[in-house]
Amino acid sequence: MSEHVNENPESPRSSGTVSTVAPKEGGGFPNPGLPPHVHRQADENPRAEKRAERMVAGLFLLSVLGTVVFIASYFVFTPMGTNLLGEPGTLHAVRWSNLFTGVGLAVAVFFIGAAAVHWAKTLMPDEEWVEERHHIEGSDETREVAAGIITDGLDESGIARRPVIVTAMIAALTALPIAVLAPLSTFGPLPGSKLHHTFWKKGLRITRDTDGTPIKASEVAMNSIFHVMPEGLTEDLEDYLEERAKAATVLIRIDPELGQNQDSLDNGYQGILAFSKICTHVGCPVALYEQQTHHMLCPCHQSTFDVTDGAKVIFGPAHRPLPQLPIEVDAEGYLVAGGDFPEPIGPSFWDLHKDK
Ligand code: FES
Repeated sequence: MSEHVNENPESPRSSGTVSTVAPKEGGGFPNPGLPPHVHRQADENPRAEKRAERMVAGLFLLSVLGTVVFIASYFVFTPMGTNLLGEPGTLHAVRWSNLFTGVGLAVAVFFIGAAAVHWAKTLMPDEEWVEERHHIEGSDETREVAAGIITDGLDESGIARRPVIVTAMIAALTALPIAVLAPLSTFGPLPGSKLHHTFWKKGLRITRDTDGTPIKASEVAMNSIFHVMPEGLTEDLEDYLEERAKAATVLIRIDPELGQNQDSLDNGYQGILAFSKICTHVGCPVALYEQQTHHMLCPCHQSTFDVTDGAKVIFGPAHRPLPQLPIEVDAEGYLVAGGDFPEPIGPSFWDLHKDK
């Protein structure tokens, strides 16, 4: 067994220690400092080599044994034969067939692998070689040719002789990015605080989205859901569509006994709770309500919100609860808003409530 790694007397391996060394003189990489090579027993001791040989052969023979078990059990345990309990012509034999063919095949495959690994680790050649990297620097002649090509190109383009063109070119390349920025000026005014507020205000009646009629608390049956809008949000308003999009809300009545979030119950009225309908993931309408589980489901990416727990996210990519609209009841028994949503509705922006 030969060892070629220590040909370089400056190699750290020659001293039997692991260390880093300075770059080689004249370029190239230093020896990375691998641990010293340890010879295996089978490399130095013929008896150990023989033992390893027998071990590998034994493992292969165990594999043969597995194959024999596989073949034998395939034919022995047939539905028409007898099973291990000696019962003839019974389907129970198929169970034994499955068991023994499976075990036989597993043994056969496993010991082939084990033998191959043991063979490679104990008896296959165990030599380490160092192959020096070839010189990657081009010859002086090649570099001269390359430099000549560049110089010729510059001469032919006449850049050095035409400063006016060069100046104009620099001006053109500097001006071009401004053309990209120009469309930004047409993106409209900055949103200001619009993202933080909706049309809902304290005292506004809660009305049905379909016909705009107000809703009495007594009309909201247990486990029912209403799609609602604030009173006074009419088509003649400026930004009507934007305000509608932000104000969309669902009203749900649950048994207060089921409530797990006291703050949420306090912001409702006798189990009637109002949540923003706009998903906090990317803004789809969360309009599917499961009466049995009290979960609201967003159809876009399946974010699921638990109504009994303040619309907390229990599944899906949304990472904050649906904002809850505080509600009250006026003197005539109609449901009214207790104020605006306490936080921006819809998809989170910037770092809004990322920790929720
Ligand atoms: S928009 Fe609701 S889960 Fe994606």
